[in-house]
Amino acid sequence: MAAETPGNPSQETLSNLLHESRRFEPPAELAAGANVTAAAYEEANADRLAFWEQAADRLTWAERWHTTLEWNAPFAKWFLGGTLNVAYNCVDRHVEAGNGEKVAYYWEGEPDGDERVITYADLQKEVAKAANALTELGVRKGDRVAIYMPMIPELPISLLACARIGAIHSVVFGGFSATALRSRIDDADAKLVITADGGYRRGAPSALKPTVDEAIQDCPGVEHVLVVRRTGQDVAVTERDVWWHDLVERQSDRHTPEPHDAEDPLYILYTSGTTGKPKGILHTTGGYLTQTAWTHHAVFDLKPDTDIYWCTADIGWVTGHSYIVYGPLANGATSVLYEGTPDTPHRGRFWEIVQKYGVTILYTAPTAIRTFMKWGDDIPAKFDMSSLRVLGSVGEPINPEAYVWYREHIGGDRTPVVDTWWQTETGAIMISPLPGVTAGKPGAAMRPLPGISADVVDDQARSVPNGGGGFLVIRDPWPSMLRTIWGDDQRYKDTYWSRFDGFYFPGDGAKRDEDGDLWLLGRVDDVMLVSGHNISTTEVESALVSHPKVAEAAVVGATDPVTGQAIVSFVILRGSADESADIAKELRDHVAKTLGPIAKPRQILVVPELPKTRSGKIMRRLLRDVAENRSVGDVTTLADSSVMNLIASKLPSAASED
Ligand code: WT7
Repeated sequence: MAAETPGNPSQETLSNLLHESRRFEPPAELAAGANVTAAAYEEANADRLAFWEQAADRLTWAERWHTTLEWNAPFAKWFLGGTLNVAYNCVDRHVEAGNGEKVAYYWEGEPDGDERVITYADLQKEVAKAANALTELGVRKGDRVAIYMPMIPELPISLLACARIGAIHSVVFGGFSATALRSRIDDADAKLVITADGGYRRGAPSALKPTVDEAIQDCPGVEHVLVVRRTGQDVAVTERDVWWHDLVERQSDRHTPEPHDAEDPLYILYTSGTTGKPKGILHTTGGYLTQTAWTHHAVFDLKPDTDIYWCTADIGWVTGHSYIVYGPLANGATSVLYEGTPDTPHRGRFWEIVQKYGVTILYTAPTAIRTFMKWGDDIPAKFDMSSLRVLGSVGEPINPEAYVWYREHIGGDRTPVVDTWWQTETGAIMISPLPGVTAGKPGAAMRPLPGISADVVDDQARSVPNGGGGFLVIRDPWPSMLRTIWGDDQRYKDTYWSRFDGFYFPGDGAKRDEDGDLWLLGRVDDVMLVSGHNISTTEVESALVSHPKVAEAAVVGATDPVTGQAIVSFVILRGSADESADIAKELRDHVAKTLGPIAKPRQILVVPELPKTRSGKIMRRLLRDVAENRSVGDVTTLADSSVMNLIASKLPSAASED
């Protein structure tokens, strides 16, 4: 081990401390019938572009492309010369193939008994009507449409209507403020906003329209607001407002889809990162649909005739765009679409839905899984979830213990868990096990998918050997990659392509273990430098979560006179654990035993909640402020700003143990 004095940094870019020996082989039956086998890796290795051409051929093109990839780094064009209509691929072609009566969405509202069954034939009519309505409102190809809606069927219908006519949608998550909405409407110069009076959230109607009204006060570019009536709340109606039920319902349910160029924009989706002006991530048509559809088919082993697929994300995030709307519909899947939260009206709601619809594939986030662990094993145990066959995770590193809990308590110890790494920018899954091929390791995203060249490098851009840690990079362009940041090519270059010459840098740390498998170690901004060792927050958090009393943990580096930075941990205990006096010592010792003394936290704080973004990611920046006794910084991106007060109230017990 390197010297433990500050100013004597070790040579490693990122330490590899956590070692995991558990393995889960793919179930024999799944492996025997898997959509994708190990041969896909070889095919893609032999000819990456030919591999993606085959994936693109799963779609229906009006005109086939002449050039698979044009790469003027860092600007990519895929499937040049090809034309297709995304909505036709997601809807009409399934109806034409005789599957009109097949269910596209089982929609489950939050209020009890609120449900709608939408077949592909229904969806075709609804999308056609909405496309005709947008046209009547003057929306044309290339125009931007902002969408600010609850999780109701009109949301995917709106996305598909835009895609159908070539308008560029910009969905803004319904939990964002008027200020956030306004800056996104402005940046994209949207001419239409689609919204609803409100949606249901935790058992009560929650208004959306007043937020839109406030946001567009000074947005003369917005010509109309199209409003769905969902909750029946009172809304102020102005001249630019149009009710969905007035306009859309009277339209013809026929609409001829025009083919669009493979590189025509499909959508903009803003990603905030941790600070700064949001970036409008631009995705285009052919490559995006190719990779979302293929990955959905491969990673979830989707069998469109028998699977009931449920992704619990909100369509306001990229996960919802790619894996509730575009990927599943392109594959002709039957999905569940749920409006509400997991604890309304009770903490078993998700499992009740799994049981009710016989869900076979479930895709959710580590933050949700850790919450379920905290609520207790007895809740999922009350439901019949024997239909489940594949479980997925996305959004943050999944701690090995959370992975094992998910597999056991949700998956009945039979289902593979696929930990899928990707970003808003990548558009689709990049690194993930294949459920019928990979022997999964809890906590590891394992291998780049076929056709994806991901690597882990040191700060000189050299590949690290097995057992080493460093920066994740992507070496070659991929079909669903972002094309630029809307209106700001320079920022696109600076943000993603300047750290390592010629490689895409996603901003994440990673390690390649002794077998060559990849582990994602969180954002590099969060890495801690302790006595010359670069230690990832993820590994320390996972060590804490592996203690039976801990449900969730967040770790930050705080300035320390002796070690440079010292590790400060915030933990949430499991429902069944009580806060005994020596819990801090117990947990510090547990981490030291699991990862080595270098990773022993200086402080442990037991807290009731952690600060999270609206998409459920832990905001370590704010915890760093607490750990360093600073006043807490910008909390506007927090889902619940009262959380920081709760944490501050726990501070007196923050003393270090020795
Ligand atoms: C960042 C991207 C991908 C859709 C949802 C999030 C983190 C995402 C994983 C994973 C470890 C993960 C990364 C990434 N992340 N999935 N499986 N393991 N980290 O999209 O909001 O654009 O965030 O989320 O840090 O860079 P996003």
